[in-house]
Amino acid sequence: MAKGTDRPATLAKRRSYADFLELDTLLGLQHSFADSDDDLLHNELLFVIIHQADELWLKLLIHETRLARSQIAADRIAQTPKVLTRMRRVLEQLSHAWDVLSTMTPVDYLTFRDRLGSGSGLQSAQYREFEFLLGGRDRSKVDLHRDRPTVAGRLEATLAEPSLYDEVLRLLARRGFAIPQQCRDRDWTIEHQPSAEVRAAWVQLYRNVEAHWDLYELAEKLVDLEHMLDIWRHHHASTVERVIGFKQGTGGTSGVGYLRQAVFRRFFPDLWECRTEL
Ligand code: HEM
Repeated sequence: MAKGTDRPATLAKRRSYADFLELDTLLGLQHSFADSDDDLLHNELLFVIIHQADELWLKLLIHETRLARSQIAADRIAQTPKVLTRMRRVLEQLSHAWDVLSTMTPVDYLTFRDRLGSGSGLQSAQYREFEFLLGGRDRSKVDLHRDRPTVAGRLEATLAEPSLYDEVLRLLARRGFAIPQQCRDRDWTIEHQPSAEVRAAWVQLYRNVEAHWDLYELAEKLVDLEHMLDIWRHHHASTVERVIGFKQGTGGTSGVGYLRQAVFRRFFPDLWECRTEL
């Protein structure tokens, strides 16, 4: 039996870095949409890598959001700020990626845009799942995935569960705050609407943070997260304007107009609105 000190060598024999990370598969995924690798258009590689890397980060965001939500549902929130901090930093990393992408000029993009066909980030099932998990509930977006029943099914299942924010409101109720019944138990497929009662509960909490320090910390981490999501969305809209101007998107929306509207979406609305009253 191997001693503790022998373990890395033993493991190394069994599994190399490339094996562990499945690098042959991963690095084989940046192929050109054309027939031959020789036709790989220079700027297309940047575009593909940014999107693939973002999808990997989205996978992690979904994983972490599910953990945070289950901790809150089980009243185990001591470690939730740590999870939310990681999520916020992932979003920050995603926001920085726009800086790299913006080295691609409109001329560069036009060399391969036609090859995208009707493909668009609008169809990112992971982005939609992340939004659904946080609290966004635009059911019509599931229709974009009807040709992939497993994906549509996963999104429908996520819609049917309480979101991260719904679980936070249920936690507030368990901790004695006056959260209306319709926020605690309702048809989860419908998006939470800003509520005067919930806003009043947050005001009450923020006016007495010493007594509710753990909830206060949780609330600030949520705002921090949504703030960074705003920044990601803003960078997206601005980068898209820089690259395609006001052309229609490949996904069929108005393009920049659609993305600008998205910047103003709020998944934790009462947490933002309560600030005016403090
Ligand atoms: C030059 C690069 C990019 C351009 C020109 C672009 C353009 C657009 C446009 C025009 C839309 C609106 C939907 C449509 O009609 O197509 C959109 C949506 C979207 N894009 Fe991008 N995009 C770019 C890069 C990215 C990157 C790097 C990501 C990262 C995953 C991304 C993710 C998304 C998502 C998730 C949506 C849906 C947003 C929502 O529904 O709120 N995009 N994009």
